[in-house]
Amino acid sequence: MFYISILLHLLESAAAASWSVSYHPKSICVFERSSVDFSCTFDYPSNRRLETTKWFKPEAHQKQDGSQVGISVYHSTPAKIHQLYKNRTTYANQDKNCSLQLQNVSKSDIGKYFFRIEAYYYFDRYTGPGGINLNVAVLPFRVTVKTQKANEHIHEGDAVTLTCSTENCTPKQEPFVWFKNQHLIPEATDNVLQISSVTHQDFGNYSCGLKSGSATSADEISLDVRYSPKNVEIVRLPSGKIQEGNSLTLICMGNANPAVTNYTWFMIKEANVSYIGSDREFSIKSASQKDDGQYFCTAKNDMGSQNSTVIALEVEVPTSNRNFLLTATALFLFLMAVLLVLFGVIMRRKQFTSKKKQQPTEQRPAVTITEEIYENLRKSSESEENLATHVTYADLRLPPSTSERPLQNSQECDSVIYSLLSYNKD
Ligand SMILES: *[C@@H]1O[C@H](CO)[C@@H](O)[C@H](O)[C@H]1NC(C)=O
Ligand SMILES: *[C@@H]1O[C@H](CO)[C@@H](O)[C@H](O)[C@H]1NC(C)=O
Ligand SMILES: *[C@@H]1O[C@H](CO)[C@@H](O)[C@H](O)[C@H]1NC(C)=O
Ligand SMILES: *[C@@H]1O[C@H](CO)[C@@H](O)[C@H](O)[C@H]1NC(C)=O
Ligand SMILES: *[C@@H]1O[C@H](CO)[C@@H](O)[C@H](O)[C@H]1NC(C)=O
Ligand SMILES: *[C@@H]1O[C@H](CO)[C@@H](O)[C@H](O)[C@H]1NC(C)=O
Repeated sequence: MFYISILLHLLESAAAASWSVSYHPKSICVFERSSVDFSCTFDYPSNRRLETTKWFKPEAHQKQDGSQVGISVYHSTPAKIHQLYKNRTTYANQDKNCSLQLQNVSKSDIGKYFFRIEAYYYFDRYTGPGGINLNVAVLPFRVTVKTQKANEHIHEGDAVTLTCSTENCTPKQEPFVWFKNQHLIPEATDNVLQISSVTHQDFGNYSCGLKSGSATSADEISLDVRYSPKNVEIVRLPSGKIQEGNSLTLICMGNANPAVTNYTWFMIKEANVSYIGSDREFSIKSASQKDDGQYFCTAKNDMGSQNSTVIALEVEVPTSNRNFLLTATALFLFLMAVLLVLFGVIMRRKQFTSKKKQQPTEQRPAVTITEEIYENLRKSSESEENLATHVTYADLRLPPSTSERPLQNSQECDSVIYSLLSYNKD
């Protein structure tokens, strides 16, 4: 009796130590329609002969801990394989290798899988504990955004995590790709994209997928980073120089999220800043020199505001008008100069001619006068009647002393002589 009990004890301990199954990995996530490998090894007491090896999956209503045997995924008797798994499994079928490959995985394959060995004796059966948990990723990918603050807008400086995931689970074996506004982000290869401090430049639409290109996200997600207006600047239409009388439009441009709600326009003139408008555009219908000055705008949204850079506006007088004015002025000045010169010349000439009239009488010697007198004398000599006057004239010629008299009186002398002559004629 003692020996029997020792023998039984030995048999039991040997048997208990030998039954084992190990799975690897314990949990798997695969894409729909792909294949999955359940790596598995097992052991059993060497004094046992195996009758059955099988993989089973507890049904949805059953306990999922392996205590209830569900449908056969694989069975050493093929006829016992459940219809759902026929032709979809490949069993290693080697000594102590229970690895199984399941092909064309679908959502209905989600669940627990257990390996079980049964020996010929009624109680000699063993289910590997724990099993393998299979989850199936259902495409397409979805991008989800997480921040430390739930249900709040994302602001600049926040830490943001973008995750590329699918329904149920996300396989991480394959490299991922990320796109921002349809452009590849080269450094992002994981299914998680972390931005430790988000800026307005991260604002945009994101999508993701597998590098292999076999699957990408169906929808883009907008990373809605809220920020105060940035890069506010003035755009001039038309650009270039503005001429007097032309119209001009200044547009206040800038990035902001949410969009700019208030624009304000200012003009700086002689160190005075004055408010001039509150629309996005500021228009000048007909520019004049009073519009000369510096301009800037302010864009504002809920997050804050920013001033644009200052632009200078210089209204030009059209060059044709300016030329006309210049020509007119030049012509006027020229005419004035000519008039002045002419006036000068006339004045000088007046002085000169009066001198000239005087000078010949001054210098003419008395002899010339006597010559004229002689001619007259000859003409009159033709008529005998004038002979008498002749004589008297000859007498008049006599005083040569006139040359010694004051010069101015010489002409008066002549006139005196002629009058005398006429008297004689009568
Ligand atoms: C399994 O595959 C074999 C050949 O590969 C085919 O003849 C058989 O019809 C398939 N059975 C099922 C249930 O798909
Ligand atoms: C078990 O079988 C599978 C499939 O045949 C094989 O890939 C694997 O290397 C085997 N494992 C061991 C431990 O031999
Ligand atoms: C994979 O399974 C689906 C149903 O889940 C079936 O429609 C499809 O034809 C299968 N593909 C292959 C290659 O067997
Ligand atoms: C993002 O997508 C939305 C709608 O799909 C579109 O209106 C918006 O312009 C996109 N943003 C950028 C930065 O491409
Ligand atoms: C911005 O504009 C809105 C209406 O356009 C106005 O009610 C509001 O007072 C303005 N805010 C500022 C700060 O000017
Ligand atoms: C600035 O504006 C004020 C009020 O409009 C005016 O009294 C002052 O003369 C201006 N100063 C200059 C330098 O234009």
